[in-house]
Amino acid sequence: MSFKKEFLWGAAAASYQIEGAWNQDGKGMSVWDHFVQKPGAVYQNHTGNTACNHYFNYKEDIKLMKEMGLQSYRFSISWPRVLPNGIGNVNQKGLDFYNNFTDELLKNDIIPFPTLFHWDYPYELYTKGGWLNRDSSDWFAEYTQVMVDALSDRVDRWFTLNEPQCFVGLGHGNGEHAPGLKLQKRDMTTIIHNVLLSHGKSVKTIRENSKLTPRVGMAPVCPVFIPINDEPKNIKAARDAMFSNKNGENFTAWTTSWFMDPVCLGKYPEDGLLEAEQYLPESYKEDLKIISQPVDFIGNNNYHGNFVQMGRDGEPELTKPEEGEPLTGFNWRVTPGSLYWGPKFLYERYKLPIIITENGLSNKDWVSLDGKVHDPQRIDFTHRYLKEYRRAAEEGIDIEGYFHWSIMDNFEWALGYRERFGLIHVDFSTQKRTIKDSGYWYKTVIQSNGENL
Ligand code: FCB
Repeated sequence: MSFKKEFLWGAAAASYQIEGAWNQDGKGMSVWDHFVQKPGAVYQNHTGNTACNHYFNYKEDIKLMKEMGLQSYRFSISWPRVLPNGIGNVNQKGLDFYNNFTDELLKNDIIPFPTLFHWDYPYELYTKGGWLNRDSSDWFAEYTQVMVDALSDRVDRWFTLNEPQCFVGLGHGNGEHAPGLKLQKRDMTTIIHNVLLSHGKSVKTIRENSKLTPRVGMAPVCPVFIPINDEPKNIKAARDAMFSNKNGENFTAWTTSWFMDPVCLGKYPEDGLLEAEQYLPESYKEDLKIISQPVDFIGNNNYHGNFVQMGRDGEPELTKPEEGEPLTGFNWRVTPGSLYWGPKFLYERYKLPIIITENGLSNKDWVSLDGKVHDPQRIDFTHRYLKEYRRAAEEGIDIEGYFHWSIMDNFEWALGYRERFGLIHVDFSTQKRTIKDSGYWYKTVIQSNGENL
C-alpha cells in the first residue's frame, strides 16, 4: 500500500518563529522574548519581535496555504499570549486570535493541528523555577484546559509538546536556546521528568474535557540511526543506537527512549536508569501512570540521520561521513533513509501510528529577476525523503501524515533569519510573501496523494 486515502498532507510553523507582535494586545513575555535581548545570544542579534508579522497577516498566510492545497496546518499556541503570567488571568485578545485563526483555517478547509508548547515558555513561570518546579505540570494542565475550553468544539487533533529534547537540551543543558541555562544531570533529570508529567496531565485534560473526540500525541525529535546496509547485524546496530541511553555526558537529554518509553510503555529505559534513577523523585513510579496516558500517534520531527554498523564489540559504531557528501544550508546531512528507518523503528517499538511532524531543509533562497523563487534542492530533498517514507507505508508501517517544515521562512531560533526553511519565501523588510517553486511542486504531491513521487 502507498499513502492511505486519509493520509494528511500539511506544513508546520511555531508561534515565536512567525507571529511577531511580541508585546501587543496584552501578551505576556516568554523566555524567548527575554533571551533575544541578550547581546550575542542570537545570530546578528536578530529577534522574533516582528518575525513574519503573522499575528496581523494570518488571513493572507492562510490564503497562501489554501493556494498550495494544504490539507492541514500544524501551528503552535503562544502560552504567554493566552495566559500572560502562565497561569491565572486569561488574555481574551490572545484567545480571540487563536479562535479567529482556527475559524479562518476551517473556512479554507484546512484542518487545524495545534501544538500546545513549542518553546515560548512564559517568563513569569520561569521566574518561579520553570520546568524545575514540580508545579510546572499543573501549570501546563491549567493552560491546556484554557485551550481545550476555547477550541475543542472545532479542534480534535492536538500535540502537547514539541521536541522536549531540544528545549531541555539546548535551553537548559548547553545554553544555546532560551532560557540559556547550563544545568547538571540532577536538574536535567528533574526537568525531563516534570516535562513528561506535564505531557501526561495535558493529555488527560484534553481527553476529559474536549467537546469533539480528540486524538492526541507528542512531537519529539527522535535522532535516527540508519544501517549502512540491510545486513541484519547492522539493522540491529541501528535499532540499538536509536533507543540507547549510553550517551555519556549528554546522557538522557537527547535520546528517544528516555522520553518515549515513559509515554508509550509506562517505564524509563533500564540503561538510562542505571545512572539517572538516583536523580528521579521518589514518586517517579507513581508519576509514570500519569505520564503514560494513552496517546493516539507518535509525532516525529525528522531531518537527518547517522549511519551505523555493528562494531566488533557488539556495540553500534558510527561510520565516518563521506568526503564532500551533500549538506543543506544548515550543514545538516541529506539522508532520505531517515524517513524510512525512523518511522519503522518507532512503529516496531511503540506500535502506534506515526506522523512526521517536521521535515525539510534550509536553503539559500532568494527572489530571482523573474520574481520567482527557484529552489530545486528543496524539491529534490523532499522528493527523496518522501519516497523513503512511502517505502515505510508499502511495508505496512502505519503512517498517518506528513508536515513539511516550514510553511514559510521564519525566525530560526539561535540562527535568526539566516536559515530559510519555508515553502513560502518571506522578505523580512517588506513582509512580501512568494510561494517558492517547491510550494507549487508540493501542491502536486498533495493533489496526487504522493502517487507522483
Ligand atoms: C526543529 C524545531 C523547529 C525548527 C526546525 C528547523 O528542531 O522544532 O522549530 O527550528 O527544527
